[in-house]
Amino acid sequence: MIADNEHASIPKDQSKEPAMVQGEPINGDGAAGSCLIDGPVDSCAIVIFGASGDLAGRKLIPALYNLYINQGLPETFLIVGAARTDMGEDVFRDKMQEALAQHQELDPSKCPEFLSRLHYQKVDYDDLESYRRLAERLDELSQAAGTGGNRVFNLAIPPQLYATVATRLGQAGLSSEERGWARLVVEKPFGHDLASAVELDQAIASGFAEHQVYRIDHYLAKETVQNILLFRFANAIFEPLWNRNYVDHVAIMSTETLGVEHRAGYYEKAGVLRDMFQNHMMQLLSMIAMEPPSRYGADRVRDEKTKLFRSLRPFPVEAIYDHLVLGQYGAGQIKGQQVPAYCDEPEVADDSLTPTFGLMRCFVDNWRWQGVPFYLVSGKRLKAKRTRMVIQFKEVPHSLFRETLGEHISANRLTLGVHPEEDITLTFQTKNPGARLCLRSVKMLFDYSQGQNGSTLEAYEKALLDCMLGDHMLFWRQDGIKLTWAYLDPVLQRCESCDQRAGRLHVYPSGYWGPPEASQLLPDWPELAL
Ligand code: BG6
Repeated sequence: MIADNEHASIPKDQSKEPAMVQGEPINGDGAAGSCLIDGPVDSCAIVIFGASGDLAGRKLIPALYNLYINQGLPETFLIVGAARTDMGEDVFRDKMQEALAQHQELDPSKCPEFLSRLHYQKVDYDDLESYRRLAERLDELSQAAGTGGNRVFNLAIPPQLYATVATRLGQAGLSSEERGWARLVVEKPFGHDLASAVELDQAIASGFAEHQVYRIDHYLAKETVQNILLFRFANAIFEPLWNRNYVDHVAIMSTETLGVEHRAGYYEKAGVLRDMFQNHMMQLLSMIAMEPPSRYGADRVRDEKTKLFRSLRPFPVEAIYDHLVLGQYGAGQIKGQQVPAYCDEPEVADDSLTPTFGLMRCFVDNWRWQGVPFYLVSGKRLKAKRTRMVIQFKEVPHSLFRETLGEHISANRLTLGVHPEEDITLTFQTKNPGARLCLRSVKMLFDYSQGQNGSTLEAYEKALLDCMLGDHMLFWRQDGIKLTWAYLDPVLQRCESCDQRAGRLHVYPSGYWGPPEASQLLPDWPELAL
């Protein structure tokens, strides 16, 4: 799966190009070729719970179709939609065809064959008998299609049903691996706090063993997020600088222009800390800050992440607002359009105190990072959609140009862009041409798409493919989930029970970079988002 850099050489005719250049992608076996699909994938049945819902039509079926088109599905596979709605197989196929057509032009030579592999089974989520019928149907279909006993169960259902469905699957024997593998795919939220996360885990564990569970974090499936580990550990020159001796601070941001949309029911109870920090922001932090694993393998990488989560300094809740800024969007303009305040969004309480913006300063108590602040920033209805990580290096220890240029010279900055720019930039100082001694800050840029002529996999495509391949690398492990909740629980409890809760929630106009208090905590905010 991973390009083997030992063999990657820069072709001679490209060696004078100013920006970084790429060689041919090299597969693990040393042969040049496409890196799009890893395989082979075992024959299997994919069962989508919640098949009549939005997620199935908008994301999962299109993802499976694209995998099919790109030969990412096994030769023999079948897809079973399972949901409460009473619906015939033809109706289900028509619905899915419509959903697919909204996303892309359908290939007439492949689409009918794909649709013919779709089936539908009505399931009452709480009724064990229903699962027994599903088991029988799966046996029949698998036998007819020759898919063997391998099964993926994908839960595209409201999170409050996860525990019930996982438990019932176990009780109906559908999680048994006697005749092939059985895998469960779950998405966030993994609980609402530590206690509910543990409860959910116990319910899942009643049916499935940890190796059977695939907890999606779609940030991990982003190409440029996956690239962080390769960038850090496949290059010798960055790692020696990646520590408290050279790094002044790190900022990890994921800003959005979108508001709460139609998800107020969930978001009102979650807020930005549960929605973005407990999962995506923590994953990004772990990728930037973890120690190198001895091998690139799912458990070794996840062990290192776990160690990192364990090293997080407990959040100083007694002085919580010295380290945390919370905000909520007010009315304003996004891309020239007037948008309402959060409190005026449908289904949001007029006096809601749910934060839609958070900036948090964290510390990692270990040898490498002692004393280096990590700033995590995320918010809705901000000026731009941007996901990026900034490693701000320390200033030079001594300026020999002080007489002409003064004491301070801008420090180096390494920026890893995830969205919309998928790039890596290094900022450094050079001499401005001319007789007078002047410095100028310049940027060296690597564009991730440079030299890339094939397509890449969308997050759900990657997640489903990895699940079928049995590769846990891009999925949460339960210990990580517990540790990140354990870190955030005291913060949430303190914020949500604090008498000054309203006074500490700073309203910012939509289309700005959050409340002004943010730049008191992180002085180069919002400059580093620009
Ligand atoms: C989801 C959150 O997990 O991530 C959403 O629930 C958020 O609130 C989304 O909008 C952001 O994802 P992305 O990939 O658009 O940065």
